[in-house]
Amino acid sequence: MPVIPAANAGISEITSNPVFSPCKICLLEYTEKSLLRMLIMPKVSTNLSPKELMQRLLAIQKERGICFHSLIKNADETIRKINEINRLKKEKNAVILAHTYVIPEIIYGVGDFVGDSYALSKNAKESPQTTIVFAAVRFMGETAKIICPDKQVLVPGIEDGCTLADCINQNDVISLRKKYPNYTFVCYINTTAEVKAECDVCVTSANVNKVVANIPSDKIYFLPDKMMGQNLIADFKKNGIKKDIKYFNGTCYVHEEYTLKQLLETKKKFPNAKVIAHPECLPEVCEKCDFVGSTSQLYNYIKASTDKEILLLTECGLASRIKMEFPDKKIVGTCTFCKYMKSNTLDDILRVLTKPLKRDIVTVDEKVRVRALKCIEAMFKYAEQ
Ligand code: 13P
Ligand code: SF4
Repeated sequence: MPVIPAANAGISEITSNPVFSPCKICLLEYTEKSLLRMLIMPKVSTNLSPKELMQRLLAIQKERGICFHSLIKNADETIRKINEINRLKKEKNAVILAHTYVIPEIIYGVGDFVGDSYALSKNAKESPQTTIVFAAVRFMGETAKIICPDKQVLVPGIEDGCTLADCINQNDVISLRKKYPNYTFVCYINTTAEVKAECDVCVTSANVNKVVANIPSDKIYFLPDKMMGQNLIADFKKNGIKKDIKYFNGTCYVHEEYTLKQLLETKKKFPNAKVIAHPECLPEVCEKCDFVGSTSQLYNYIKASTDKEILLLTECGLASRIKMEFPDKKIVGTCTFCKYMKSNTLDDILRVLTKPLKRDIVTVDEKVRVRALKCIEAMFKYAEQ
C-alpha cells in the first residue's frame, strides 16, 4: 500500500510556477516537452498485451508526469496485478467504476468506466454485471447500492471517507428540518445513505443548478457544502432565479485550498490561461472563472476548447488525465490531493475480488435505502426535465 500523506499537501513551493504548484506528493511537471505523448491510452487496457502495458506504465514512472503517488515500484508486479484483476473481473462478472481522482493504474489498467459521480451512478445502474467495484469513496459505493440493491457493491479504498460526507449525520438533518419546516432539503451526493434518506432531492456537481432551479419550492435548504450553496446562490442571482437558499457549513478540504489571491497572481503570469474550477471551490474563486463544473464537465470543457493554457482548480487526478489524454494542453498550475480517493490501490481491488473484508461489502439498511432512493430518483427526474 502506498504511503498516504497525513494531511493534504496543498500548494507547495516545488514548481516552475510559484503561485499554484504541483503538490509534493505528485511532483507534476506541467511542461509540454514530456514524452507523455507515448501514454495516450484507450480507456480500458484489457486488450493490451502485458508488454504494452508495461511499456506504458514504465513511461509513467520514467517521466513522473503522472501522479507521483502512483509511481510503479515494480512494473512486472504491477502488470501481473492488472492482468489478474482483468481476469477476475470476467470470472466474477464484475465491472470496475473509477472516479477521475483515483490513480492512473486503476483508470487505465483496470477501469471499465471513468467519470464523475453522476455518470458513474448511471453506469452502476446500466451495467449488466452482478458485482460493482467502486474505486472511489464510500458515499459513491453507497449510492450504487441504493440504486442497485440486487448487485454486490464493493468499495476497495481503505480510507474511504470524504470531508463533506463525514461532516453531517442523520440527526443533524432531523434537527435542521425541525428548524426549517417549510424548506425543501437538497443534499449533495457527497452524503451518507442515512442523510439522503432524510432529504427530499439529491444533486451532483454536474446538475446542482438545474435540479434546484426545477424544484417547485422556492425555499431550499442545501447541504452539506457551504461553497456549493454559495455558488448556487450566485448563479441564481446572475440568472434572475429567485429562491431563498440556506446552506450547511461543510467544506471539501481539497477544493477550499484555492484562494482568489493565488488565482489573480497566476492570471498575471499567464494572462491567456482559461481558469476552470469545481463548484466545491470558494465563491470568490468561482466568480472569476471562465467555467465551473463537475469533473466530467471540466474534462469535456478542456477536450472541446482550443485554449492551450489552462488553470485547473480541482484534485490532481483530473490534471493527470489531461496530461495523459491531451498532451498539447498546458496546465499552468495546481495540484491538490484527495487522500481518500488516492487510497484505492490495485492490491485493494484484488482483495475485494478475491477475499473481501466485511467493510469492503457495502450494505444499506433496507428502510434507509428505500427513502434514500426516493431522494436520488427525484434528482434524475429534475435533472432530465
Ligand atoms: P464530481 O461528481 O464532479 O466528480 O465530484 C465528486 C467529488 O467528490 C469532487 O470532489
Ligand atoms: Fe470528498 Fe473533497 Fe475528496 Fe471529493 S475531493 S471525495 S469532496 S474530500
